[in-house]
Amino acid sequence: MSDNTTEKGTFTLTNNATGESFDLPVYGGTHGPDVIDIRKLYAETKHFTFDPSFTATASCKSRLTFIDGEQGILMHRGYTIEDLTDKASFLEVAYLLLYGDLPNEERKAWFEKEITYHTMVHEQINYFFSGFRRDAHPMAIMCGVIGGLSAFYHDSLDINCPEQREISAHRLIAKVSTLAAMTYKYTIGQPFMYPRNDLNFAENFLYMCFGVPAEPYVVNPVVAKAMDKILTLHADHEQNASTSTVRLAGSSQANPFACIAAGIASLWGASHGGANQAVLEMLAEIGSKDRIPEFIERAKDKDDPFRLMGFGHRVYKNMDPRAGVLKQSAHDVLEDLGVTDDPLLEIAIELEKIALEDEYFVQRKLFPNVDFYSGIILKAMGFPTSMFTVLFAVARTVGWISQWKEMIEEPALRIGRPRQLYTGPAKRDFVDLKDRD
Ligand code: CMC
Repeated sequence: MSDNTTEKGTFTLTNNATGESFDLPVYGGTHGPDVIDIRKLYAETKHFTFDPSFTATASCKSRLTFIDGEQGILMHRGYTIEDLTDKASFLEVAYLLLYGDLPNEERKAWFEKEITYHTMVHEQINYFFSGFRRDAHPMAIMCGVIGGLSAFYHDSLDINCPEQREISAHRLIAKVSTLAAMTYKYTIGQPFMYPRNDLNFAENFLYMCFGVPAEPYVVNPVVAKAMDKILTLHADHEQNASTSTVRLAGSSQANPFACIAAGIASLWGASHGGANQAVLEMLAEIGSKDRIPEFIERAKDKDDPFRLMGFGHRVYKNMDPRAGVLKQSAHDVLEDLGVTDDPLLEIAIELEKIALEDEYFVQRKLFPNVDFYSGIILKAMGFPTSMFTVLFAVARTVGWISQWKEMIEEPALRIGRPRQLYTGPAKRDFVDLKDRD
């Protein structure tokens, strides 16, 4: 092991059945719990470990992102998310994640130009869209068109070539925003808007979504700033389900476009990126403040599958720091857009207040997560709920491709291959068709 990894002695495992003991190496990183290295466990003990939802398994070493769920801390490459959202742009954070340090002025200008000039997509991709139904969920279209990119950019598919890996990373960060906007335009039946190189990343994305060829589009700076913040807040989040999916797909040496498509599929689910859409649907279903107690009771009822969307997190057992930043941003955007009496925001604020005081939520450390507020802002900007997860994907592409790049550059890269505890039938004799019940 290298980098900031330190050796911390051994962890002794004793098999009570046989009395045998095994010493497993223990390593520490920069922050966070130490890890027990179990890579030789099977060879030495003929046992696997059992951790179905990876609640206690570090699947890789990473230098990108650190989360302290107990304290509610999120840092990228050592910088807190509060500092980054306050003082850096989304593309500076993208550079930080991809290259390891914040860019100086020259590198910042280079990276912004590099991403801007990759936002156009191959013209043939336009025809891809017409194969989809107009009422398709935008994430269904995204799964298809992002995976389809590998059919268009053959010159950057060699994962063993550092230059090609870099071009693919830039292409993905740039083109996912264009394809997300095209997806939106397709579902509402409006013409695609070609990217504009004179706008920054967030402004250009808003322009491609909300501009029309018939008239000039004026960027609202408050909305553009909030969009930049939302993108920054969602850029990376350590080894979550979609990032782990990207890493696992990439470990087989699949090309980066295919890997990111896998990440998009994983993000779609309501327990992950789909939660921001689910929050708004839930607030609409609640409908008025006086119905909140009824929904709180339903969330606590173990016989009812209903969960309070936008609450709880696998890692955060404290306020999600991203939610704190967005709560303020929600107020700024709604005030600027003149949405002062949004009933959904009123329900959200009341719901947050009640849930934070309720014994059930307090005991289980269920706090509002990032999705609780992002949906309210995106709705005020004019995005339909079905686009919320797509926006998450635009931002997270930065994290996915940075994590993929880090993994590919790891000399000890091997294909990911979890094991299992088999609980199916024991070996049995084949039954001929005529003898089956
Ligand atoms: N509403 C009601 N009860 C909940 C909720 C909730 N939102 N979340 C967790 N619980 C309960 C759960 O039933 C369990 O109770 P008990 O101990 O009595 O059985 C306890 O809290 C612990 O929950 P868990 O199921 O062990 O938590 P998990 O780590 O498996 O799940 C989660 C995390 C995010 C999937 C879950 O909290 C959830 O479904 N939240 C709502 C969906 C959501 O907002 N997801 C967005 C996550 S943030 C964006 C991202 O990073 O993708």
